[in-house]
Amino acid sequence: MTQRPDGTSPPIAILAAMPGELQAVLDAMGPETRHEIIGLRQFHVGSLEGQPCVACLSRVGKVAAAATTVTLIQRFGVEAIVFAGLAGGIHPDVKVGDVVVARQLIQHDLDARPLFPAFEAPLLGISHFSADAGLSDLLYASATAFVSHDARRSVAQASQGRIHLDRPQVHRGLIATGDRFVHGSQAAGELRHRLPDALCVEMEGAAVAQVCHEFGVPFAVVRTISDQADQTAGIDFTDFLGAAAGVYASAILRRFMSTLGDEAAQRQHSRAQAWPLSGRADDTKTI
Ligand code: ADE
Repeated sequence: MTQRPDGTSPPIAILAAMPGELQAVLDAMGPETRHEIIGLRQFHVGSLEGQPCVACLSRVGKVAAAATTVTLIQRFGVEAIVFAGLAGGIHPDVKVGDVVVARQLIQHDLDARPLFPAFEAPLLGISHFSADAGLSDLLYASATAFVSHDARRSVAQASQGRIHLDRPQVHRGLIATGDRFVHGSQAAGELRHRLPDALCVEMEGAAVAQVCHEFGVPFAVVRTISDQADQTAGIDFTDFLGAAAGVYASAILRRFMSTLGDEAAQRQHSRAQAWPLSGRADDTKTI
């Protein structure tokens, strides 16, 4: 973690779209957290596992996520942004209870053809936004530790036996973002056809990614699969949000922040300068 001239570290931002995804993280931040309201959003400034952080509910959709991201960068000077939440599984290998850590994110509903290629952010020349490799490695390790040791028991307990996980997995790859809750086999099939590499679909990640790209701020996205984007997606999402979303988000993010702190302490001890952020991955795809 870098240090400011006054010896303090800039905070890491933690973002989620829905209260059910963020509340368990806010509870873990403790009572010394202060609250600031900007642009109808409450920013919770404090620490998680000893690491300075600002947590905020972006609300749902790309505009809400982009606006929140700009505020986090401009007003709070965050060092990096981590988005945690739920997603619908699109790839056949991705099941409810699995976790997806983004390598890249794309806006599946961005289409300015014939002026620009499909999916490309106009005048930016980018369709696939790459997450920070170092942050994503750490999220992957944190998610893997959770799903392999605690997820089944924690989720069964939190959902009072309603949600049973069968060998949850952690995946890494492409996340598709758009201003649409996908809930039908036809819509999900079309998305699968247009973006065969996409693992899951959600409504904020690529908007955060685009803003972070424009400001040169490292970011990562972790999504837990709540539904299969099919006919029952609305019910499955609501059940999972109520019973399991907070369990995943707080377990993964607490472990992530704690490891970040350990690594920063080790580096300070060995006087090394770099920290896990490896900068924007150089495989950002331009078309
Ligand atoms: N977030 C969780 N499930 C989703 C879905 N099916 N579509 C879009 N965003 C989601």
